[in-house]
Amino acid sequence: MDLRRTAPRTAPALAVLLVLGLATGCSGGAVDGSPGAAGLRDRYFPKAGNGGYQVDHYGIRLDYTPDTGRLTGTAEITATAEQALSSFHLDFDGMDVDEVEVDGKGARFNRAGQELTVRPSGELVKGRTFRTVVRYSGVPRTVEDPDGSEEGWIETADGAVAVGEPVGSMAWFPGNHHPSDKALYDVEITVPKGYEAVSNGVLKARTERAGRSVFQWHAAEPMASYLATVAIGRYDVRTSPGAAGTGGSAGAAPSAVPVYTAVEPGLVKKSAPALARIPDVVAWGSRRFGPYPFSSVGAIVVPDGTLGYALETQTRPVFSGAPDADLMVHEMAHQWFGNSVSPKSWRDMWLNEGFATYAEWLWAEDRGGLTAEERFDAFYDEDTDVDPEADGSYWDFPPADPPGPEHISDDPVYYRGAMVLHKVRQKVGDKAFFALLRGWAAARRHGNASTADFTAYADRTTGEDLSAIWRVWLEGDGKPDHR
Ligand code: ARG
Ligand code: ZN
Repeated sequence: MDLRRTAPRTAPALAVLLVLGLATGCSGGAVDGSPGAAGLRDRYFPKAGNGGYQVDHYGIRLDYTPDTGRLTGTAEITATAEQALSSFHLDFDGMDVDEVEVDGKGARFNRAGQELTVRPSGELVKGRTFRTVVRYSGVPRTVEDPDGSEEGWIETADGAVAVGEPVGSMAWFPGNHHPSDKALYDVEITVPKGYEAVSNGVLKARTERAGRSVFQWHAAEPMASYLATVAIGRYDVRTSPGAAGTGGSAGAAPSAVPVYTAVEPGLVKKSAPALARIPDVVAWGSRRFGPYPFSSVGAIVVPDGTLGYALETQTRPVFSGAPDADLMVHEMAHQWFGNSVSPKSWRDMWLNEGFATYAEWLWAEDRGGLTAEERFDAFYDEDTDVDPEADGSYWDFPPADPPGPEHISDDPVYYRGAMVLHKVRQKVGDKAFFALLRGWAAARRHGNASTADFTAYADRTTGEDLSAIWRVWLEGDGKPDHR
């Protein structure tokens, strides 16, 4: 039975629903709710996310055996219904679903592509908080992005790493996989003895159970699912009490932010300089962008060539091979821009990448390197001394309007996105510009924002007429005539 296409409310269909309801102990009223939408109609990833509910918390328990690549998982998803629901969708790509329960009762489910449709035994009234438990197993998939890069679950020589931008997280846990639905997470990972298992946030406990090691991670601040990570392997783990004076989470008294790094043993030496910078970068970011938004920090360095990119996974970016300081700055800047202030849709990627790129320019400027103005000029002139790869590709499309899902991580989103910010800085001056960056990070802290939200915020708070910048630099086609 295909539960995705709920039968129209003809008499026979209604009778079937009622019988189903009785058979599963439904308390009646099944005809009032309607199915939650299968996707949020994101322009680039229309099936990503699901309608009709918001997730409050994910409790994910994983058991992984590197030798076989087999993962067993249980996802406990606590969500609130935003409409009366007769059924709802989760995004889940690959693996086998063994069992689904809603509020302790067995639920029917159906799968079609990335859509896992769940029909609880009784309808969920609007406003109700409900808990879905999905038990699953198998060898998780590696997902190929529209741009050809890999995400999802990626095996390494002695373990695996999970990265999710934009839609890879559905390969290892079912959920509402769109950045607009942020939630809290607890991730528990069981691995054979001798392996480390790393995720986002704080390691609350590490225990031994039946000869295996159990790691309990807690992400205490809201997180978009694409920023969730798990890394399993024989990592070199180091912890330190933290970066002083950067402020704790959500109103906590200023205190050290604990640093937790996990590094591929062969890369420890090469990674050390960039990792040693983490406290400095966090302190610098806290001055430039406002208090560091999370209660922990760190990094995961996976073997060279595991991924073709680094990812700003929340509190603990993943680097494929040893990072350099600039890349560290970029991924740390995302903790403010992208992770705390997350995009409302994948069209808003430049709010992540333009800002993180501009942070690299600022870091250099603040340390006596090229100024952002010099870098802006060099990029405008496509000066290969400053940008060896300069080939005019950042003029391909306006940063806030990638032509397709395969372009959301292209150069215009990063470099021309950064240039938009520099144009604003030129127009409003340093004082107002840095107040804008801090104000924006504070105004949308732990939330979501769109491009229109940002331009409206900048217009309002700077009191300047920025419309020409938006029109030409953010939304216009081709290379602007004047710098
Ligand atoms: N957001 C990552 C960064 O800028 C890059 C992710 C690249 N992903 C991709 N599918 N191209 O650090
Ligand atoms: Zn980035």
